Amino acid sequence: MSTLTKLALGAMGQLRPRPVKGDARKSIKLPAPDRKGGLPLMQALARRRSSREFARKPLPQPVLSSLLWAAFGVNRRGGGRTAPSALDAQEIDVYVALPDGAYRYDAKAHSLQLVAASDLRRVTGYQDFVDLAPLDLVYVADHRRMRMVPVAQRESYASAAAGAIAQNVYLYAASAGLVTVIRAWIDRSAIADALGLEHDQQVLLSQTVGYPKA
Ligand SMILES: Cc1cc2nc3c(=O)[nH]c(=O)nc-3n(C[C@H](O)[C@H](O)[C@H](O)COP(=O)(O)O)c2cc1C
Repeated sequence: MSTLTKLALGAMGQLRPRPVKGDARKSIKLPAPDRKGGLPLMQALARRRSSREFARKPLPQPVLSSLLWAAFGVNRRGGGRTAPSALDAQEIDVYVALPDGAYRYDAKAHSLQLVAASDLRRVTGYQDFVDLAPLDLVYVADHRRMRMVPVAQRESYASAAAGAIAQNVYLYAASAGLVTVIRAWIDRSAIADALGLEHDQQVLLSQTVGYPKA
């Protein structure tokens, strides 16, 4: 769908997901992430960049697993994560829009929990490439977990935390031969509707990931 069509539909509150082809699975247990592989950090940093051209090729589950673990997985005893959060509130939820459904990443169980049995990739942003790239992530702040953070600071702290997660995804992508772009040009209310979010959950950013276009 073109950006202009999306803008028009968005203005009318009509930017909606597509139905999925098969049955979306309620829960997907991800394989263990590969915690050893990858490029040396300085080489991954040297390759980090945004890209907006994606092949349609799906992401294999082991790649999705490592990507989500790198993004915001549990990396130590006690439940610590791969990205920081103020007062360790861990307020960001990573939502995963795939062709066969939209899921919330459960870091503790390293699994995906179905939130919408629809293909809502096209709802995750105004740019056309988001519709067909194999994966769009959405970073959502759950304000209920930030009760210890002063109200005036909650949004900026959550945005900083989401930015750290996004950079983890950039570095994993650079390391694994994937391409990605973080995006703020999104219709937050359309995304919130499609994901069935509650009042205290705030859509912050989206990020597309996939293989580079040949
Ligand atoms: C907060 C934020 C919002 C962004 N929003 C968008 C966006 O909506 N669409 C897009 O194509 N790129 C977006 N970008 C990516 C920037 O355009 C990109 O990082 C910048 O052009 C520098 O390019 P580089 O990432 O390749 O170094 C955003 C980046 C940031 C940090």
